[in-house]
Formats: sequence, structure tokens, C-alpha cells
Amino acid sequence: MNGILYFSSTGNSLYIAQRLSEEIGGKICYIPKYCGNGGEFDRLFLVTPIYSYGMPAHVYDLLFKLDKTKELVVIQNYGGMSGNADYLVYRYATECGLNIKGVLKLKMPENFTLTFTVPKFYLNGVLKKADERINRIIAKIKNGEYIIPKKCKTKEKTYLKNKANWHIIGERFSVTENCVLCGKCVSVCPSENISVTDGKITFAGGCVACLGCYHRCPEKAIVYKNKRKKDRYINPYVDEKQIGKDL
Ligand SMILES: Cc1cc2nc3c(=O)[nH]c(=O)nc-3n(C[C@H](O)[C@H](O)[C@H](O)COP(=O)(O)O)c2cc1C
Ligand code: SF4
Ligand code: SF4
Repeated sequence: MNGILYFSSTGNSLYIAQRLSEEIGGKICYIPKYCGNGGEFDRLFLVTPIYSYGMPAHVYDLLFKLDKTKELVVIQNYGGMSGNADYLVYRYATECGLNIKGVLKLKMPENFTLTFTVPKFYLNGVLKKADERINRIIAKIKNGEYIIPKKCKTKEKTYLKNKANWHIIGERFSVTENCVLCGKCVSVCPSENISVTDGKITFAGGCVACLGCYHRCPEKAIVYKNKRKKDRYINPYVDEKQIGKDL
């Protein structure tokens, strides 16, 4: 059986994982809750957003633990500029001896929208093309046309520097009077960074900048640098309750 291991905070990667599973079969596992090394599967597919020209912290940690004997294909999705994230993950995987076959990447809606707003017409345009892009990638997988990224400067320094600073995002969140203490942010956080203390939502120091709490709070009560921006994003093709679940 294929193992489709995914990380997702706003549903884009989950949607890709679900489409892949429909087409080639496989068990979908949410990386932050996954304790294995992929050894129980025949082939591994890692479906992940690009963060700072690299990968989310949980994906980074898992990559180095994966079973070296299993074929691995990485599928990255990004909002606008992917940099050399494909080569970076390929390089990390080969350096640690993984049996990586290739990296495929595609554009999906941007969710790093703390300081700007993606115009609706643009967002809808990207969503409209999503299926076409996903289908192209799935066709490549079915035909074994894996892409080996070309050797290039990897932007590793930028990635590692940003990764080391992601905790600062959590420090800049605050919660407005609109919070109804539903507890959703506590349960969606992949790094157990949010808790309720003295009847208030509090953030600890372990934020990995996924923005799940920010986008998925039903009251839009989590704000960044006290800016009361109204736009939030959740992929409309997934059942939001399934983000973070195994399927
Ligand atoms: C911390 C963070 C960093 C990001 N960095 C990049 C980036 O370097 N380039 C890019 O094009 N998109 C970047 N994005 C956008 C996501 O890669 C993109 O929206 C992705 O589809 C989100 O997937 P998800 O819905 O499965 O979480 C970033 C998002 C976050 C939260
Ligand atoms: S998800 Fe939003 S409303 Fe619910 S507890 Fe968190 S901040 Fe409050
Ligand atoms: S605090 Fe929010 S942004 Fe940070 S890791 Fe948790 S859910 Fe993600």
C-alpha cells in the first residue's frame, strides 16, 4: 500500500493528498501525529507546502527519519515563489541516503497572508487551475515521470534562518474580544503551542508558523500584530474538519 504522508494547515496539501489517494490508492497520514518511519508502506509520497523556500518543521524532522529502502516522491505546493525548495528537499533526502525518485511541485492558493490580502479574483483563478495542475502531477506519477530537480544554489541559509525564527510569529499573535473559547485553535495547533490559561488563550514559545490557528479560528479572533484583517483562507474543496486527520 502507498503511504501518503501530508502536512497541511489550510487544506491545500490535504486536497492534493486526497486526489492522489483517489487516483493511485493509499493511506493518508497527518505528519505531526504520525509516529512511524514509512516502513509499513510499499511506496512513500510526502505532500507538503513550501515554507520559506523549504519545508515545514514537522516535514523536515520526518524526512531524516524515513525508511531508506522505500521509494519516496515529494510533492510540494506553494503560494507564489517556490525558490529552490525542490532541490533543497532533494538534496537533504539524497544526503541522508533516502531512495528519493523525484520532486514535483505545483502552485496553490497563498496562505501566508498575515500582512497582505490576496485579491479575490486572483485567488479564484488559482483555485480554478488547481485540479488541472494536480491532474498533471498525478499523470506524471502514474507514468513514473519523476522530476529530479537540477542542481542549483539552494537558498538553504534563508530557509534555516527563517525556520529558526518561526516562533516569533506566535509571539506576535493576540486574541481579540471575539474569542468564544471554543478551543479549536488549541486542537488544530500541530505543535501544542496554544492553551487556555485563566480563561484566556495563550501562546507558548514553540510556534512553527503554520498559521492554522489564524486561518481556522471561526471568529477570526486571532490577529497578527494587532491588525484586524478580515481575510482568512481554507481550501474550499476539503472538509475543514479533516485537516489534521488520517484518512
Ligand atoms: C510559514 C509559511 C511560509 C511560506 N513560505 C512560502 C514560500 O517560501 N513560497 C511560497 O510560494 N509560498 C509560501 N507559503 C505559502 C504556502 O506554501 C501555500 O499557501 C501552501 O499551499 C499552503 O498549504 P496548506 O494549505 O496545505 O497548508 C508559506 C506559508 C507559510 C505558512
Ligand atoms: S479558535 Fe478562536 S474563538 Fe476558538 S478558542 Fe481559539 S481564538 Fe477563541
Ligand atoms: S500557534 Fe498557530 S501558527 Fe503557531 S504552530 Fe500553532 S497553530 Fe500554527
